[in-house]
This record gives sequence, C-alpha cells and structure tokens, in this order.
Amino acid sequence: MSTRDLWNRYARYFNAEEGFIFPADQPELNFYRRIRKDYTGRCLEIGAGAGRLTGSLHAGSVTVALEPSDSMLQAWSPFDSEQAVRLQGTGELLPFRSNCFDLVCFPYNGLQCVTGSEVRAAVVKEAFRVTEPGGVFVLEVSPVFARRGSEPLTERYNASMPDGTRLILRERVESRPDMDSVRYHMFYTTVKTDGSEVTEEVTLELAATSRDETVALLKQTGFCDIIQWGNYDRSPYDNDLSPRLLVSAGKEG
Ligand SMILES: C[S@@+](CC[C@H](N)C(=O)[O-])C[C@H]1O[C@@H](n2cnc3c(N)ncnc32)[C@H](O)[C@@H]1O
Repeated sequence: MSTRDLWNRYARYFNAEEGFIFPADQPELNFYRRIRKDYTGRCLEIGAGAGRLTGSLHAGSVTVALEPSDSMLQAWSPFDSEQAVRLQGTGELLPFRSNCFDLVCFPYNGLQCVTGSEVRAAVVKEAFRVTEPGGVFVLEVSPVFARRGSEPLTERYNASMPDGTRLILRERVESRPDMDSVRYHMFYTTVKTDGSEVTEEVTLELAATSRDETVALLKQTGFCDIIQWGNYDRSPYDNDLSPRLLVSAGKEG
C-alpha cells in the first residue's frame, strides 16, 4: 500500500485520536511555537496531516503545509486553512526552489513513517536543499520504538464519539528487528448508534531509527550545529530515558 493510500485510510482514526480521544499535547504545541519565534521567515511543515500544529507554526510570514494524503488535507478546519498554504506532496521530492525556508520541520515521527532508508535519506537531502543558510530543520523521531518488543492484541481504548458512535481500538505490535521496523496492527471497530459494528484494519509500519542513525544522516547531508533534546521541554536527550528525540539541525549561514 502506498503512503498516500495508507494515510487516506488511517486519517479518520488518527485525527479522532489526536483531536478528541487524547487531549492536545500542550508542551508539544509550545515547543513548535517557541521554535517558530526563533525562525520567523518562511516555514515548511513536511507531513502536516490535518493541520494540528498549524496554530503553533503560524507567524507573520508564510507557513507551507505539505501533506501526501487527500483525507488529511480534506480534514483541515476552515480556521487552520487560513493560517497556512496547503500543498499535496511528499518530503522526498519537494516542489520548492533551493534555500527558501528559514524553518523546515517534520514533526511527530514523520521521518519514521518513511520506512525505506533511501527514501529517508532523500527526505533529509531535500530538507537541506530547501533550508536557507542560517535556517534549521527540526524533526521528531522516537528511537524508543526500536527497543519495543512485540505485544499481543490488546484493547487500547473504547471511546464515545461526538456523533454518538463508539470507537474501539485493539492493537498488536510486531517488532521486526530484521527489517529495522515496528508494525502496528490496528483494528478499529466503530459501533454505530443502532448497535451494528464495522471493523477496519490499518497497519502502520514505522522505521526503528536510532539516535545515532538520525544524527549521522543529518551530518552526512551537510547539516551542522545539531542540537538534541529528549522532550518538548528541551531537556537533554538520554538514550535510555527520553520518550522522544527532537533535533534541530542548522544549515551554515
Ligand atoms: C504522524 S502523522 C503527523 C501529522 C501532523 N504533522 C501532526 O503532527 O498531527 C505523519 C504524517 O506524515 C505524512 N507522511 C508520511 N510519509 C510522508 C512523506 N514521505 N512525505 C511527507 N509526508 C509524509 C503522513 O501522511 C502523515 O500525515
């Protein structure tokens, strides 16, 4: 299944989780707001989804939201649509001239959604090309996924939705060390108001990228001044304890 097809299928559930089932992650929103205050020129968000971070990335100059999935692009609210220029496309082939963004970001494990190492390298190369000298590329990955073992099928939530339906997620995690990836087999059951049920399976594969690989890739591509944080509060990265890796990688001015 292509990236676009996968995210077209997954968008409905991902957006229900991020917008409703799980509360907004205020520290994450603040992290991007703070970065944007430091880099006020043109901004590009790669893999912008349904615009969850648009408010945080909004500034006086333009923010471009690039996203491959039609369903994600259609899910934008009218308000967020006013705050960014939406474009359909992928990170490995950016439709922009070189050196034109002060801030480029690929948030929320976006780079791990790109499972082929050559395609990931192409995304980082493209991010470097479009970042202007003096600008930065900011990304989030979760090296902790690589250490997560397989887990049996378990119910993750059973939530009432605003339209009166219930959404139930059962998930099985398949660690694939030989493929350097983790597969999440997600079974979403919608229980309608008349009691009937429909279950849809979505399989999300994430690359099990480590901190060292991520930093090495950024350096090989030409980025410098690499700062690594372990969480949205900008605490230092700790390979054993940090829930995520946030990196700011600069392009020499
Ligand atoms: C985990 S979601 C995050 C969405 C949004 N940034 C957010 O934080 O809510 C990852 C997004 O990356 C997009 N994506 C996957 N592969 C991509 C690629 N090769 N280039 C650009 N975006 C991609 C997906 O369609 C999806 O919307």
